[in-house]
Amino acid sequence: MRIAIILGTRPEIIKMAPVIRELEGGGREYFILHTGQHYSYNLDKVFFEQLKLPQAKYNLEVGSGSHAEQTAKILIGVERVLLEENPDLVLVEGDTNSVLAGALAASKLHIKVGHVEAGLRSYDRQMPEETNRTLTDHCSDYLFAPTEKAKAILLGEGIPQEKIFVTGNTIVDTVYQNLEIAKETENTLNTLHLAPREYFLVTLHRQENVDNLARFASILEGLDKVAIEFYLPIIYPIHPRSRKMMAEFDLQPKKLRLVEPVDFLSFLQLESSARLILTDSGGVQEEACILGVPCVTLRDNTERPETLEVGSNILAGVLPNRILEHTRLMLNKENNWVNPFGDGTAGKKIVKIIMEDSDG
Ligand code: UD1
Ligand code: UDP
Repeated sequence: MRIAIILGTRPEIIKMAPVIRELEGGGREYFILHTGQHYSYNLDKVFFEQLKLPQAKYNLEVGSGSHAEQTAKILIGVERVLLEENPDLVLVEGDTNSVLAGALAASKLHIKVGHVEAGLRSYDRQMPEETNRTLTDHCSDYLFAPTEKAKAILLGEGIPQEKIFVTGNTIVDTVYQNLEIAKETENTLNTLHLAPREYFLVTLHRQENVDNLARFASILEGLDKVAIEFYLPIIYPIHPRSRKMMAEFDLQPKKLRLVEPVDFLSFLQLESSARLILTDSGGVQEEACILGVPCVTLRDNTERPETLEVGSNILAGVLPNRILEHTRLMLNKENNWVNPFGDGTAGKKIVKIIMEDSDG
């Protein structure tokens, strides 16, 4: 059994790390194909270094571009590598253009596809990720659903039961494997002059939020209101997409402290000591839930409904007063929920399932 791991962006590197670690530890035959969708040091290499991942055997260096351009370049590059390497299985994680193109190229070559984090749905086709995740699920042979809820969604779409495996989400593995290391080795709070529980953490990068002037401006106004009411610093490690759009729209948030995107251990520290997190990121909604930190999601919907159900997260949308009200609400709640995303053994389970299947 030879496995190709295809990845291309920050969250894929972070969430595929436990699977790669498991393959590496078990002496399995595999290689990493990086699409190059993310290429800046602080969105890419820093995670390979910090999570101690082996270098990618291939990097397609596709870079940024329109959806069609980027997806097409990945398709062409992945097909070429797969024809040369002829692996038995391709593994992809999540919902980016790299994931869809990787899965599609493999599927057309009749190479089996395993989708890690299958069965997530926001039912919002404004999100490019919704198209990517739905199509990827439907051309996959192994669907690794993080929760029973995700499995039910896949069954509801007619995907056969025998292809679906509930494993938990690999983000729990990554968080558990790195939280203590983060606490021991990083001193991000001191560097940024922050005191535990005396600041808010923000991330914001979704295309439908930051590429839209009205929505982006409205969210920033809401965040300024939060800063004023609670009189606490708001730290925003800003994604390059958002930095670019903020400059293009000439938006100047008055109360936010913008910093460059930080490495994973530093980010874990920032998350775990925050009073509250406001975000439109998928992974950050999960991490807040795992770390016991309340989360306000700056979107109208989420493909992580488990976080709403356990009470770790709330959907605020993008209107300034709603952001403020929902922040108040979450700050007055008890943080006693149970993490619904598994016990930190998803990576192990995924590799075991693949290997047992290949042994017949
Ligand atoms: C992509 C994913 C998104 C994911 C996010 C993780 C798709 C459709 N979107 O969004 O689901 O949540 O990654 O962070 O696949 N840029 C850099 N350096 C880089 C990469 C990008 O400066 O290394 C800038 C470029 O200006 C680029 C912009 O960010 O145009 C957007 O990059 P892109 O890869 O298209 O999408 P993301 O917003 O990163
Ligand atoms: N993250 C990080 N540094 C940052 C911001 C985020 O390491 O400055 C990590 C975060 O811990 C999470 C992942 O990046 O694991 C989330 O990625 P992102 O929000 O870019 O994508 P999404 O999850 O929305 O697809």
